[in-house]
Amino acid sequence: MPKTSFPTIPSSEITSEEKFINRRDFIQKTSQGLLASSAALILPSAMADSEFNLKHEITSYKDITTYNNFYELGTSKSDPSKNAKWLKPHPWSIEVSGLVNKPGKIDIEDILKIPTEERVYRMRCVERWSMVIPWEGFELNKLLQKFEPKAEAKYVEFKTILDPENLYGQRFPVLQWPYVEGLRMDEAMHPLTLMATGIYGKKLLSQNGAPIRLVIPWKYGFKGIKSIQKIRLLDREPRTSWNKAAPNEYGFYANVNPKVHHPRWRQNKERRIGEFRRRKTLLFNGYQEQVASLYKDMDLKKYF
Ligand code: MTE
Repeated sequence: MPKTSFPTIPSSEITSEEKFINRRDFIQKTSQGLLASSAALILPSAMADSEFNLKHEITSYKDITTYNNFYELGTSKSDPSKNAKWLKPHPWSIEVSGLVNKPGKIDIEDILKIPTEERVYRMRCVERWSMVIPWEGFELNKLLQKFEPKAEAKYVEFKTILDPENLYGQRFPVLQWPYVEGLRMDEAMHPLTLMATGIYGKKLLSQNGAPIRLVIPWKYGFKGIKSIQKIRLLDREPRTSWNKAAPNEYGFYANVNPKVHHPRWRQNKERRIGEFRRRKTLLFNGYQEQVASLYKDMDLKKYF
């Protein structure tokens, strides 16, 4: 597993201070809890700077929780927050099967016993908008290890809850339900890959994928599957929802890459929610130092 350091978010990415004022509690909690432990590794280095970050840019809680993609709760950006009540995040469990020595189910109560950390990640959606989100979560590898992956396991498949009775969006064939995503095993075990259970130190709301969702900051947002109920370890690449729906538009890897364009639009610029100007999109969304080695012999145009 590559050694990981977390990159600094430059001060050029600063937005209005007002957005940070209401974050004081979160930041204080973060500074006490994390700097006391193995902190520097846990947070992007900007979090560890002297001013504690009232400066660096984090998207407002309001934007993060009202501008969403979650087709099970509707296809427009404002639908998921309005229809959040359709998703009942309790009771909840995740079933882990496939190429593991100890297949089984784990209840959300037990999942929540895994210690969480706060990590501020840049997120980039394939639709060319981006956010900076203070996630609360734990590394996916910590969950997978409990089930003892076998050596033959090369890929991980994730599935969202299937409940068309309540999740009205699943009554429409926009995608094949349930929503399915996948990672290569080394991507899944990478320390940047997070299972998120909260944002801004608060429990995840349904619109963001309660009670637990995936976060992979160097990939387009659609890889971050929400409200996960099933995980399966495989020896072959799983078929994923977006890849099935439009294979020429949504590849399995979906690494953020300003040089590989979507067939219907270019991918070299993005707009941070809350800003007007467009900024340059960075290779691997800025996490190149941490993840480029995973793809060193791959043609990223072919494996997009
Ligand atoms: N997960 C499920 N189950 N259903 C979805 O429609 N949308 C994806 C991803 N995860 C989606 C999903 C897309 S396209 C994006 S950009 C992110 O969730 C958005 O996450 P956010 O709303 O928390 O920012």
